[in-house]
Amino acid sequence: MSRRRILVTSALPYANGPLHLGHLAGAYIPADIYVRYQRMKGHDVLFICGTDEHGVPITLTAEKEGVSPREIVDRYHRNIRDSFERLGISFDNFSGTARPIHHKTSQDIFLRLHEKGYLEEREVTQLECPKCKRALPDRFVEGFCPNCGADGARGDQCDTCGKWLEPSVLIEPRCKICGTTPAAAKTRHWFFKLKSMQPRLEEWIAEHPHWKDNVRNFCRGWFKAGLEDRPITRDIPWGVPVPLPGAEGKVLYVWFDAPIGYISSTREWAEQQGDPDRWRDYWLDSRTEMVHFIGKDNIVFHAIVFPATLMAHGDFILASEIPANEFLNLEGRQLSTSRHWAVWVQDYLDDFAPDPLRYALARNAPETRDTDFTWKDFQARNNNELADILGNFINRSLSFVHRFFNGKIPAPGDLGEVDQRMVKIIEDTGARVGKHLEVFAVRDALRELLASAKEGNRYFDEKQPWATRKTDLADCGTTLNLSLQLVRVLTATMQPFLPFSAPRAWSMLGLEGNVAGVPWDEIGRELFPAGHALGEIGILFSKIEDEAIEEQVRKLRQASAQAQLPTDEKQAPEITIDEFAQFDLKVGEIAAADVIEGRKDLLRLSVNLGTRTAEIIARTSGNASPDALPGRQVVVVANVGAEIEGLPSDGLVLTIDGPDGTVFVEPDSGVANGTGIK
Ligand code: 2FM
Ligand code: ZN
Repeated sequence: MSRRRILVTSALPYANGPLHLGHLAGAYIPADIYVRYQRMKGHDVLFICGTDEHGVPITLTAEKEGVSPREIVDRYHRNIRDSFERLGISFDNFSGTARPIHHKTSQDIFLRLHEKGYLEEREVTQLECPKCKRALPDRFVEGFCPNCGADGARGDQCDTCGKWLEPSVLIEPRCKICGTTPAAAKTRHWFFKLKSMQPRLEEWIAEHPHWKDNVRNFCRGWFKAGLEDRPITRDIPWGVPVPLPGAEGKVLYVWFDAPIGYISSTREWAEQQGDPDRWRDYWLDSRTEMVHFIGKDNIVFHAIVFPATLMAHGDFILASEIPANEFLNLEGRQLSTSRHWAVWVQDYLDDFAPDPLRYALARNAPETRDTDFTWKDFQARNNNELADILGNFINRSLSFVHRFFNGKIPAPGDLGEVDQRMVKIIEDTGARVGKHLEVFAVRDALRELLASAKEGNRYFDEKQPWATRKTDLADCGTTLNLSLQLVRVLTATMQPFLPFSAPRAWSMLGLEGNVAGVPWDEIGRELFPAGHALGEIGILFSKIEDEAIEEQVRKLRQASAQAQLPTDEKQAPEITIDEFAQFDLKVGEIAAADVIEGRKDLLRLSVNLGTRTAEIIARTSGNASPDALPGRQVVVVANVGAEIEGLPSDGLVLTIDGPDGTVFVEPDSGVANGTGIK
């Protein structure tokens, strides 16, 4: 097979905060596994990333802290790069979009589009805050979504329905900084003529019928609605300056420049290699396969806006693959940094080794649907799979040879049927795992790897070397020889997934060199000769105790509960007694409780209010066990009809965010259902 050239990109994280597990699951862990695998296949792989250093959120953080955007960007660039390094994410280059090389690259591309007539300057009405005296593009403004009605939609996007918005369409807009209602003002911006590009984009997407459904469906939706021309410049001070006369004070829209970061990061890499033109081999040669790993929220930019930029420019290759992943939830709830419902990568790494996390996230990767990370599941994956299956097979095989064969791999004797089955597993495992990795199916790949380790344990149990050692030494030798061959196969195969543990296992096997250098197609072919001396053994995967997991859950709940405590600024406005008296507070008894399917954090409660039963939706931290609720009395606001996450709720139940999760408010001694509360 000829050597492929593969350019792999992972979405550029905003340099606006530390990384959490949700980031890792979609765009980084699967990408790193894929890249490490393709390198072992012997292909020419370049893995590119960096931080996304422009955009309104960074300006907002800087203002909040009273520092420059540059300071924020530098701080989080270092922080994020450090997290990736500690996790073994093996980028060939990790750049940042505030660097001169990126500004130059983006400006050149902008100018080329301008020359070729793809950009048009238009007069537009934009929102400005009369109090802050500034333009309010993108996330500087919030309001109700014109599409789904959700509050908190921002000037660039509604997170509730995913619609791409413009500030001018928001209902009841308000300045994000001071809350003032903005005024309309005239300005000029450059529009990217996306509308005219729709036919080419549609044709291009149609050429990739094997792409994931999420990507194709998203695009289909966009095409159906019809692409619209979009302004790609902004009146804000932080960003890539628009390189045209008369455009002073204007910068490029962050989503125009960010993906160009893949190109500038490649250029920076080439310069570091002392061969500044080498980036061209990747970006200008149609034989290069470009693969974008992203989360689903970035699909439109990678499947429509960036390819349109590249097409309009004319010289560059387009993506061959866009493995877009869904989202990772945490303990049954959507991850949220503002609500402190997140596990920070740095915190994790202070307490645990990187490989168990890589394993748990890959095993449960949100490939086709959102998945849930729970600490319990993390513990179970580590203890029951890594330690008890994979680690156990490696350990028992190595220990046995150490104890009874002086640390030297015995020669095999005649092979029986069971041994032949093992030989097949030794030969096939690499290819079986690789087949899934070729199509980005990391979960299936790990399942195969684990299946081989299980087969190893089964073989060991079936062959009973501890017995044959005394009765049939030749057969005992066969068993250990084949077991060690499989350990070698598993070690090489696990390298892309577990890059910290695989080299350790490699040296326990007494092998020299770097396991990452094993050609993937040789896995299962290069075998130990009899007499090979093993290295020193140690524990590969330690078990994680219940207490360590409980501590993490407690930390998470505590941080989230603290984040909800009212701060001075968040104090609710004062109300009068008359206003309070309007609340119809009643005691009710929970008659039935069910979890809403797929939403551990939402309960449907039937509450007996004496004269009637109310169907109420209660939001919890996901900890409540519905079976324990019937029969308990709670406090209900009975005269409010609400909608909670789109579900009608005939009242509200009073709850408290406690350190261990949601707590219901209840009377401290029994009273009749329906009793009013004063
Ligand atoms: O969603 C995000 O975090 C963006 N910073 C991703 C950018 S990806 C690429 F286009 F740069
Ligand atoms: Zn304002």
